[in-house]
Amino acid sequence: MEYTYDYYRKSADYIRSVIGDFEPEIGLILGTGLGKFSARIEDPVEIPYKDIPNYLVSTAPGHSGKLIFGTVEGRKVMCMSGRFHTYEGYSFEELSIPVRVMKLMGVKLLVATNAAGAVNVDYRPGDVMIIKDHIKLNGFSPMRGPNVPEFGDRFFDISDLYCRELRQIAEQCGEDSGLTIHEGVYFFFPGPQFETPAEVRAARILGGDAVGMSTVTETLTAGHCGMPVLGLSLMTNMAAGVLEQKLSGEEVEETAQRVAPLLEAYFAKVLKALPHYE
Ligand code: HPA
Repeated sequence: MEYTYDYYRKSADYIRSVIGDFEPEIGLILGTGLGKFSARIEDPVEIPYKDIPNYLVSTAPGHSGKLIFGTVEGRKVMCMSGRFHTYEGYSFEELSIPVRVMKLMGVKLLVATNAAGAVNVDYRPGDVMIIKDHIKLNGFSPMRGPNVPEFGDRFFDISDLYCRELRQIAEQCGEDSGLTIHEGVYFFFPGPQFETPAEVRAARILGGDAVGMSTVTETLTAGHCGMPVLGLSLMTNMAAGVLEQKLSGEEVEETAQRVAPLLEAYFAKVLKALPHYE
């Protein structure tokens, strides 16, 4: 499959036919722990992924599949309720679709959240990590294949992918949030298996503070088309081998549910504080 500009336009044209002249400013991709935040979106217009031509359909448990357009904290958002992962069987190239379609809908800024395992032993389950940078040694780039120049250049700089200004805002909003907020490096593993203890030790030696199975394809796609990014990770568990216990999807969900009220309040504050882009 060749992903041309027209390929993405087809999705965008359909969405435009549903949302009329609504102009979303912020693209939201809500991971585990913030799934329910989308219920706060006012005057929502929902579009099931399966209705959108050339789009993807999510298969992960607990990830419903729809786009939600509306206003939250006074900000016009295009929210993905349910995201796509390479472990579901999608190629890295296919994973360029969601953020490129956001770009075509006029989104100026991407905010992506996820659940992750803490590699840094100073972190605790329930803590939040503002993503400062990432390490992705697995798999291809979502920008592999013929470049689509309407989005960006063939070779593109990602040395400030996780925009410093946005990170500072997220940090300030963390004060009095009741959450412990860190800034660290997200180390991508493709999953769906959790990492081995040796992989977690390797990630730590290489500079990773958390491990997770999502987000990097989305943020790289945003970086290619010049969209500033804020990434937030919720530590739902200590990564494999850190503690003498097995990892499970249940632990991830339990922590996410426990922290959800504080996380939602924090996230609302961050959204409100984000700069307005022209
Ligand atoms: N590893 C990878 N992804 C995750 C983890 C983990 O430990 N926890 C939540 N998502």
